[in-house]
Amino acid sequence: METNSNKNPVSFFLASFIFLLYFLPQFCHAVDRITPGQTIRDGDTLVSRAEIFELGFFNPENSTFIFVGIWYRIDVKAVVWVANRDRPISGRSGVLRIGVDGNLVVLDGNNNLVWSSNVSGLSNNTTAVLWDTGNFVLSSNESVDDTHWQSFDNPTDTFLPGMRVPVNSAIGEYPAFHAWKSASDPSPGNYSMGVDPHGGPQIVIWDHGRRRWRSGQWNGVIFTGVPNMSSIASFLYGFKLSQLDENRTQYFTYYPPNPSNLLRFRIGWEGREQQLMWDDGEKKWKVLQQQPDLANQCELYNHCGNYATCDNLNSPKCNCLKGFRPKLQDQWNRGNWSGGCERRTELQCQRTNGAAGENGKPDGFKGLKCTKLPDLANLTLSAGNSEACRTSCLGNCSCRAYAFISGIGCMTWTVDLIDLHFDQSGSLQFFLRLHHSELDGRRKISILVIIIITVLGACFLVVSLWLLWRYRNKLKGLPAVSSMPCCKDDDVAVFDVSKSKEFSADLSGPSDILIDGNQINGPELPMFSFSCVATATENFCVANKLGQGGFGDVFKGELPGGQEIAVKRLSGHSGQGLEEFKNEIILIAKLQHRNLVRLLGCSIQGEEKMLIYEYMPNKSLDNFLFDEAKQAQLDWRTRLSIIEGIARGLLYLHRDSRLRIIHRDLKTSNILLDAEMNPKISDFGMARIFGGNQNEANTVRVVGTYGYMSPEYAMEGLFSVKSDVYSFGVLLLEIVSGRRNTSVRSSQHTSLIGYAWHLWSEDKAMDLVDPSIQDSCFPTEVLKCIHIGMLCVQDNAMHRPTMAAVVLMLESETPTLPMPRQPTYTSMRSSIDAEFTMDGQEIVSSNDVTVTM
Ligand SMILES: *[C@@H]1O[C@H](CO)[C@@H](O)[C@H](O)[C@H]1NC(C)=O
Ligand SMILES: *[C@@H]1O[C@H](CO)[C@@H](O)[C@H](O)[C@H]1NC(C)=O
Ligand SMILES: *[C@@H]1O[C@H](CO)[C@@H](O)[C@H](O)[C@H]1NC(C)=O
Ligand SMILES: *[C@@H]1O[C@H](CO)[C@@H](O)[C@H](O)[C@H]1NC(C)=O
Ligand SMILES: *[C@@H]1O[C@H](CO)[C@@H](O)[C@H](O)[C@H]1NC(C)=O
Ligand SMILES: *[C@@H]1O[C@H](CO)[C@@H](O)[C@H](O)[C@H]1NC(C)=O
Ligand SMILES: *[C@@H]1O[C@H](CO)[C@@H](O)[C@H](O)[C@H]1NC(C)=O
Ligand SMILES: *[C@@H]1O[C@H](CO)[C@@H](O)[C@H](O)[C@H]1NC(C)=O
Ligand SMILES: *[C@@H]1O[C@H](CO)[C@@H](O)[C@H](O)[C@H]1NC(C)=O
Ligand SMILES: *[C@@H]1O[C@H](CO)[C@@H](O)[C@H](O)[C@H]1NC(C)=O
Ligand SMILES: *[C@@H]1O[C@H](CO)[C@@H](O)[C@H](O)[C@H]1NC(C)=O
Repeated sequence: METNSNKNPVSFFLASFIFLLYFLPQFCHAVDRITPGQTIRDGDTLVSRAEIFELGFFNPENSTFIFVGIWYRIDVKAVVWVANRDRPISGRSGVLRIGVDGNLVVLDGNNNLVWSSNVSGLSNNTTAVLWDTGNFVLSSNESVDDTHWQSFDNPTDTFLPGMRVPVNSAIGEYPAFHAWKSASDPSPGNYSMGVDPHGGPQIVIWDHGRRRWRSGQWNGVIFTGVPNMSSIASFLYGFKLSQLDENRTQYFTYYPPNPSNLLRFRIGWEGREQQLMWDDGEKKWKVLQQQPDLANQCELYNHCGNYATCDNLNSPKCNCLKGFRPKLQDQWNRGNWSGGCERRTELQCQRTNGAAGENGKPDGFKGLKCTKLPDLANLTLSAGNSEACRTSCLGNCSCRAYAFISGIGCMTWTVDLIDLHFDQSGSLQFFLRLHHSELDGRRKISILVIIIITVLGACFLVVSLWLLWRYRNKLKGLPAVSSMPCCKDDDVAVFDVSKSKEFSADLSGPSDILIDGNQINGPELPMFSFSCVATATENFCVANKLGQGGFGDVFKGELPGGQEIAVKRLSGHSGQGLEEFKNEIILIAKLQHRNLVRLLGCSIQGEEKMLIYEYMPNKSLDNFLFDEAKQAQLDWRTRLSIIEGIARGLLYLHRDSRLRIIHRDLKTSNILLDAEMNPKISDFGMARIFGGNQNEANTVRVVGTYGYMSPEYAMEGLFSVKSDVYSFGVLLLEIVSGRRNTSVRSSQHTSLIGYAWHLWSEDKAMDLVDPSIQDSCFPTEVLKCIHIGMLCVQDNAMHRPTMAAVVLMLESETPTLPMPRQPTYTSMRSSIDAEFTMDGQEIVSSNDVTVTM
C-alpha cells in the first residue's frame, strides 16, 4: 500500500478521499453504544439513533453532585433515569465503561466503583446500546434477544411508553418507581408508585410504604377512580394489561395514541403522579393530568377514616355514612378523623352468629354511588351477575359490601370499607350491607303514602282529562276515541298524517315547537283507538307478529281501507308521564326523511302504548343479509345504496333534524327495507322516549346491543353522535361481509371488526367481501367502504368521523381518507384476562337482544 501510494500519489489521494467520504458520516454521527474498552467521560454523551434520548453525566439544578442519567435530547432537560442515584460523584472526573466482568460500571475520579449493573455470569464481550425508546440495554449479541440488563427493568421515577410493569398476585404490591428526594436530589425520597394486583389491579402511590393515593380498580379500559380518565381523554386508550404469561404475570404497558408525541408519567418528589407531554410549539412540558390534587385532601387515601365520606367544600369535611357513627366521638369533634366510623346497629347475622335469624328479618343492602370503589376488594369469580354477587355476599357474614362492575366482575369487601369516595353523581355503584332497621324503614311508609297520593292524583287528572276530551269531541260531533271504529271515512282524515305537506314546512319554518314546554302547535297527532288497532292486527294474533325488538313486539296489521301498518306494542315503562310521552311522539312523528320509517300515529290506553308505522314489505335487513338463500338478492349496487341511505338517514337524525336524535341502537334488525329495497331506519327516537331523564341520578340506562356498542358507551354509558357512528361502522362491515359482527369468533379474532382489521392491514380486504357478491362488485367502491368502516369503529370517539364526513366520503369518487387506528376494543369481551372477566348473562348476550342496564 505504502509503496503503491508513493508510486501513484493521485490514486492515494483518491483512496483517502473515498475513505473519508465513506467513514466521515459515521464519525460525525453521535454514538449510541458503548463497547468494551470504550469510556464515556464527564462531558461525553451517548445519543440514541433518532436523537431522542441522550445519556451522560449531569448535575441537577442547585446541586454540586454529578450523576449518570438519561434525558430527552430537547431544549428542556428532563431526566428520566438515573444510575447512581444514591451515590453521587463529587467531581467532574467520573467515567462510565464496560467493566472487566462485562457489567456496566460508573467509577469516580479515584477509580472507586460508584455504580454497577451488577449482573453475574456475563461474557466479557458485551455492548450497551441507548435506544430511541429511552431504554439502555446491555447485551452480548444485539441480533439475538439476550438482554442481560436494561434500564427499563430498573426504572427510577419515570414510566416511559414501552416499559412494562409486572402485575402478579404472587409478587404482591410492586412499587416500581421511586420519587426523587427533592427537585435537586435524585436519591430515593418518601414516595413510590406501582401496582397492587389484588382485587382488580390498581395504581398506588405510597408514602414511606403507607398508601397515599390509589387509582381505583382497572376495568379493562380505564382506572375507574381517576377522575379525568372517565371522560374521553386522549390518554384513555393507551393503557393495556397483557394476558397472563406462563409465570402468571400480566404487564401494564402504555403506548400513546399518537406515537409521535413525547409522553411520560412520573412520580414527582412532592408525591404526585404526573402525565407530561412535550409541546413543541411552546417548548415546554405540559401537564396533562396529575393525581392526587394536593389542594383537595379528600383525594388522599382514607382521609376521613373507615365508613366515612369526605367533601372538601363541606364543614365539617368528614361525615359518617348513614347508619354509622364516629368511633371516637371526642377525637372526631376535634377534627381528628383517623378513628373513622362504626355501625350504629350490629348486623343481624352477627347477632345470630351467622345463622338465619328466626327472630328478625335478614340484613339488607343499600346502594351507594361513588367515584372510586372502596379499597381491598376480593374478586368472587364464581358469581357471574349482580344477583349471584348479592347472594354470595349475603351468604357470608364477613361480607360488608358488594359491587358488580362491568369489566371487573363481582367484588366483595370482607374488611371495613376503606378510602370511600362517596358521591351521588358518581358512576360506580356498590351495595353496603346494613341491619334492616337502618334501611329507611320509617321512610318507606311515608314514601308509600306519597306514592299512593300521587297515583290517586294522577288517576283523577287522567279521568278529568279524558272526560274533558270526550266532552270536546262530542261538541265537535266526533265519536270519542275509545269507541271510535276504525273504518269510518271521517276517521281517515284524522289518521292520515301523510297528506300534511305542511309538516315539512313546519320543520323549516320558525320554531313553533318548544321541546320542553307544552306549546306544540303542529297538527294533531293521529290517535288510533285500542280496539281499532286490535281489530287491524286480529287481536295481536301470533301469526301477525313480525318480530320482537328491544322495546316490544311488532305486529302486522291492515286498516279497513286496505292500508298495511306495522304496530309496535311498547313494553315496560318509558319513565315518562303520559303527556311527555305524547309530546315526544308528536315531535318524532314530525321527523320525515326518505330513510326513516314513517310514524303514522299512536295509541295510548292505560298501560298499553303502541306506535303505528308504515308497513315495510321486505322486513328488516338482517332477514336478507344473514340468510344464505336470500343473501344473493342483495347485489353490490343494492348494498351500496343501502349503506348510503342509512348514512343519510343518520345524518338527518344527527344534524339536520330539529331534535338532533342519537339513535343508540342502530343494528341490522332496525334497518327496514321497502318494496324497492330502500333502507329505512326504525326505532329512532326510542332512546329519547326510553332513555329517561339524563339528569336523574338514579336511572342511568344504557340501551343498546352488544356488538354494536362503542367502547365509551358500553363501558361508561357515555354516548354521543359518535357512538352511532361506531354502530354504523359495524353495520357497514356487516353489509359488505354478509356476516354478523359476533359470528366471527376464533382464537385470533373476537369479532368481525378484529378480523376486518387483520385483513385490511394485510392488504387482503377483498377477502372480507361476501362471496355471493364478490363477482359483481367494484373493488374500488368496496375498499372505500371497508376503509370508511374501519374509520368509524376506531376506539377513540374523537378519531371517528362525523356522519356528515361519512356521507361526503361515500359520495365522492376518490376521497382522500385518513388512516384508521387499530381497533382494540370489542364490546363482547374486555382485554382483561379471562380470569377477571365475568362471563355472566349481563355481558354476553346474543346479537339480537337489546340490553338495558
Ligand atoms: C434553585 O434555586 C433557586 C434559588 O434558590 C430557585 O429559585 C429554584 O427554584 C431552584 N431550582 C430547583 C430545581 O430547585
Ligand atoms: C451486587 O449484587 C449482590 C447480590 O446479588 C450484592 O450483594 C452486591 O451488594 C451488589 N453490588 C452492588 C455494587 O450493587
Ligand atoms: C475476554 O476473555 C478472553 C479469555 O477469557 C480473553 O482472551 C479476551 O481478550 C477477553 N476480551 C476482552 C475484550 O476483554
Ligand atoms: C465482540 O463482539 C463483537 C460484536 O458484538 C465482535 O465484532 C468482536 O469480534 C467480539 N470480540 C471478541 C473478543 O469476542
Ligand atoms: C450473534 O447472533 C447471530 C445470530 O444467532 C450470530 O450469527 C452471530 O454470530 C452472533 N454474534 C456474536 C458476536 O456472537
Ligand atoms: C419526607 O418525610 C420526612 C419525614 O418523614 C419529612 O420530614 C419530609 O418533609 C418529607 N419530604 C417530602 C418531600 O415530603
Ligand atoms: C418465567 O420465569 C422463568 C424463571 O424465572 C424465566 O426463565 C422465564 O423467562 C419467565 N417467562 C417469561 C415469559 O417471562
Ligand atoms: C380534569 O378535567 C377538568 C375538566 O375537564 C379540569 O378542570 C381539571 O383540571 C382536570 N384535572 C386534572 C388533574 O387534569
Ligand atoms: C387522633 O386519634 C388517634 C386515635 O384514633 C390517636 O391515636 C391520635 O393520637 C390522635 N391524633 C391527634 C393529633 O390527636
Ligand atoms: C380479600 O382481600 C384482602 C385484601 O386484599 C386479602 O387480605 C384477603 O386475603 C382476601 N381474601 C380472600 C378470601 O381472598
Ligand atoms: C366467609 O368469607 C371469609 C373471608 O373471605 C372466609 O374466610 C370464610 O370461610 C367465608 N365463610 C363462609 C361460610 O363461606
